[in-house]
Amino acid sequence: MRTEVAIIGGGPAGLLLSQLLNRAGVDTVILERVSRDHVLSRIRAGVLEAGTVDLLRSAGVSARLDREALIHDGVVLSDGERMVHIDFRALTGSSMTIYGQTEMTADLYAAQDAMGTPILHEASDVEIDDLDQENSVVRFHHGGDTKHLRCRFVAGCDGFHGVSRRTIPVGKRREFERTYPFGWLGVLAKVPPCHDELIYATSARGFALASMRSKTLSRYYIQVPIKDRAEDWSDAAFWSELTRRLPPGPAEALTTGLAVEKSIAPLRSFVSEPLRWGNLVLAGDAAHIVPPTGAKGLNLAVSDVFYLHEALIGALKRGDMAGIESYSDRALRRIWKAMRFSWQMTMMLHRFEGEDSFAAAMRGAMLEHQQTSETARRELAENYVGLPF
Ligand code: APR
Ligand code: PHB
Repeated sequence: MRTEVAIIGGGPAGLLLSQLLNRAGVDTVILERVSRDHVLSRIRAGVLEAGTVDLLRSAGVSARLDREALIHDGVVLSDGERMVHIDFRALTGSSMTIYGQTEMTADLYAAQDAMGTPILHEASDVEIDDLDQENSVVRFHHGGDTKHLRCRFVAGCDGFHGVSRRTIPVGKRREFERTYPFGWLGVLAKVPPCHDELIYATSARGFALASMRSKTLSRYYIQVPIKDRAEDWSDAAFWSELTRRLPPGPAEALTTGLAVEKSIAPLRSFVSEPLRWGNLVLAGDAAHIVPPTGAKGLNLAVSDVFYLHEALIGALKRGDMAGIESYSDRALRRIWKAMRFSWQMTMMLHRFEGEDSFAAAMRGAMLEHQQTSETARRELAENYVGLPF
């Protein structure tokens, strides 16, 4: 087998990159470790920046999103007493779009099928070789055979646990990491949202987030100790804890119901530099993870893909390697700003086990500053709606 760009990973980063490259006449093959049903059963975040939506439009995959997505002009930060409205439209002229990552991934699969792009599911034991040669080779097992895929570039879009990043020799990469001593217990329920905007709530009992997928489907999260297991949280215990952490009005308006999904996600900040080694280029969770508090994970994968598709098209269509050479630096500048924002949101809203009274006072002061300073709110809004690509 031969292709121009071998893409490892059929998540949003790999699929969107493939779609943009195919539309520019560049050939791709996607290798995905699990089945399509498995990929499409994962419940992930659901906030898209305007730049993300623009790129989906130019990739020709926005028809359903344009019909079904919700547009939100702001979010609420609360500590129970204060309800601080961050008015994105007034502060930045922009807004955000609510559309599940799972839906976006399904739309991308449909578009890629229409393009006829080969997507090999349940491809195992992927190994990447000859990254320093003119052409590289990806070896893998599929359908009982060992296969070789020869290519000019390898795009590592295989998430945090993927093989691509680890292919770069340890001495050639640098990792930055911060883990947090708590996770988010998330529940998806077929109930109307308790408020018309997202609510990021901090309280003495810990953080809670009220989010949604549609007018009839809600997504809620509560901060829990990292050692907790989702199975140990009954629906009733979840709703009770959520109610105690939300501000009074939305807590009273809360409709509870059967949890159709319940899982715990750890919180982590992680960056691996650089994003390129020879013919291998990394994008999305393969290179970086943000805690979900800033809703940046998916959007950051999309901005990587924006820079990377331009770079690959330049190299493959015009023989111009400048974009490939600058890809890592260009993407990392935006990645680090999203890292900072996600970390700041996490620190402003979560309670740390065993923390002192000073830590809680700092959170109170940060929220008070948001309430009283339009400049502070504009800074938050500018980051939340998304910095320019
Ligand atoms: N070989 C082939 N595929 C692999 C391998 C491997 N060795 N390891 C992992 N994969 C696949 C995973 O099964 C997954 O489908 O790579 C895909 C990576 O997808 P994501 O983890 O979704 O990562 P990415 O596409 O970068 O999406 C960005 O933003 O909101 C965040 O974490 C959230 O998934 C989201 C991410
Ligand atoms: C979600 O709806 O899943 C969601 C929204 C905002 C976040 C994180 C997750 O910051």
